[in-house]
Amino acid sequence: MRIDIMTLFPDMCEAFLSGSIIGRARAAGHVDIRCINIRDFAGNKHNRVDDYPYGGGTGMVMQPNPIYDCYRAVTEEGARNCHLIYLTPQGKTLTQERVRELSEMDDLVLLCGHYEGVDERVIEEIVDEEISIGDYVLTGGELPALILADSISRMLPGVLANEDAFTEESHYGHLLEYPQYTRPPEWRGREVPPVLLSGDHGKVDRWRLEQSLERTLRRRPDMLEAAEASGELTKEEQGILEDLKG
Ligand code: ADE
Repeated sequence: MRIDIMTLFPDMCEAFLSGSIIGRARAAGHVDIRCINIRDFAGNKHNRVDDYPYGGGTGMVMQPNPIYDCYRAVTEEGARNCHLIYLTPQGKTLTQERVRELSEMDDLVLLCGHYEGVDERVIEEIVDEEISIGDYVLTGGELPALILADSISRMLPGVLANEDAFTEESHYGHLLEYPQYTRPPEWRGREVPPVLLSGDHGKVDRWRLEQSLERTLRRRPDMLEAAEASGELTKEEQGILEDLKG
């Protein structure tokens, strides 16, 4: 999988992408992530990439041509067949399901906007999909692009040590994850739930499922309603849920 990030702040992106799990995944060749500076394609001696909005108003707008020239260079003049995603609060909200689908693509290009936005014509010309990471506004698309690159990369083969790590976690299915504990068995008067020390795997699985359902019911009833409506709940889950609802 290759991911190219078109940005005005490649150093900021690199700083994140060099560390920890993603840094290791890049070094091991599980994912090829590159950061490209849109300013390198400014095409004028002042390296300017933004201008005042037509029609007036505050802020600056990113001009279409530097982004387009950057895109042409990244896609090798159109020879590479990439899926281009523009990160914007106006996009469709990212979900784990969409992350999983994107992780099956080979070639992604992420466009980070800045200032008050990007000239609409270049969006029409090159963008395949617009994604938001939530209903709030950031100063630019870099953090959203990094969040997207991170969430996709961790689903690629070889990146996480154990693939169960994501088949059991929150949002992978229709439930939030159960609580986790590690040593010591007692900390500041709080004990690890005894069932987890029992060695009875059947009981542990059942307890975890109950905890997942209980948390999801309390914190994200919308997720449970959606799962119920689409028939995703197993008989066992339905039974536990009925008991929880009393
Ligand atoms: N750029 C600024 N805010 C954003 C958001 N919430 N999602 C994606 N891109 C953004």
